[in-house]
Amino acid sequence: MKKINLGNGEVPCLAVGCMRMNALKPAEAAKFVSYAVENGANFFDHADIYPGSQPYGVCESIFAAALADAGIKRDAVVIQSKCGIVPGVMYDFSLRHILDSVDGILERLKTDYLDLLLLHRPDALAEPEEIAAAFDWLKSSGKVRQFGVSNHTPYQIELLKKHVKPRIVVNQLQLSITNASMISQSMHMNTLGNDAVSRDLGILDYCRLHDITIQPWSPFQYGFFEGVFLGSPKFPELNRVIDGIAAKYNVSNTAIAVAWLIRHPAKFQPIIGSMNTARFGECLAGTEITLTREEWYAIHAAAGYSLL
Ligand SMILES: NC(=O)c1ccc[n+]([C@@H]2O[C@H](COP(=O)([O-])OP(=O)(O)OC[C@H]3O[C@@H](n4cnc5c(N)ncnc54)[C@H](OP(=O)(O)O)[C@@H]3O)[C@@H](O)[C@H]2O)c1
Repeated sequence: MKKINLGNGEVPCLAVGCMRMNALKPAEAAKFVSYAVENGANFFDHADIYPGSQPYGVCESIFAAALADAGIKRDAVVIQSKCGIVPGVMYDFSLRHILDSVDGILERLKTDYLDLLLLHRPDALAEPEEIAAAFDWLKSSGKVRQFGVSNHTPYQIELLKKHVKPRIVVNQLQLSITNASMISQSMHMNTLGNDAVSRDLGILDYCRLHDITIQPWSPFQYGFFEGVFLGSPKFPELNRVIDGIAAKYNVSNTAIAVAWLIRHPAKFQPIIGSMNTARFGECLAGTEITLTREEWYAIHAAAGYSLL
């Protein structure tokens, strides 16, 4: 597995997203986690609210049981989790909520530390001084080693950095071939088309400038969880181009979707949500492919982004 730099070390270039782990029976979860770790994918992404519906937090518990069943030691894996969403009610980055959330996460994960903690989605009422106090306590108590954010804008990160001592090393963002406005927009300075509209506020260049690793979430979905674009009749031209390139490299379309993301020089760390070992294997195959510039741009254009 290829590695990328993230914060204070090297990590695999793909992360395992655990949001859908509740779909697995305990033995299946242990098998999946073993397969991932044996193949070098030992970086696992969680959130206190996964699977995103009741019962919240169950994915962290399933994962902890899977690690134990598979006999995998804590220091053989990198565990990241997120807090700050109270589903359907509010966002909460208060000191009390962050500290209580981490205690709950550690209990469910059956560990005494997180490698990374991310703030899940911006809280309009966030007080950066409170976040700073929470991070200080979590760092000094050894409960969290590194910190990041998710779905944050450049200026939200700047505001945090004004107060927070530990470095922000990750921003987890929605990014796939069909949700790639952050890439497209950066090529459309002074043009009149829709691609010039900045929805992402320069987040891609901002993160690169500040050595913040972007972790693309939902790397195979279009819209907001509307479905998988691969093989979808909604994207005939995109699938035609991807399938042609997949045939050339003798891999699946899934592998090419991964290869497209990791070809970008920002060195993204896509969070793969598949809980299927065969499909995960296809993703691993994608990490071995370096798309040519022509192939990368052909896919980008086939997704509907303008090259002028
Ligand atoms: N920070 C945030 O706000 C945020 C939001 C959402 C998610 N996330 C993180 O991102 C991770 C990934 O999200 P996601 O699960 O929505 O992303 P995804 O990897 O784009 O989607 C995975 C789902 O698509 C299915 N799928 C069907 N055909 C596929 C194909 N050809 N290739 C790949 N997958 C295919 C998979 O099924 P099989 O299992 O059968 O393969 C799985 O159910 C989550 O686990 C979570 O850790 C973060």
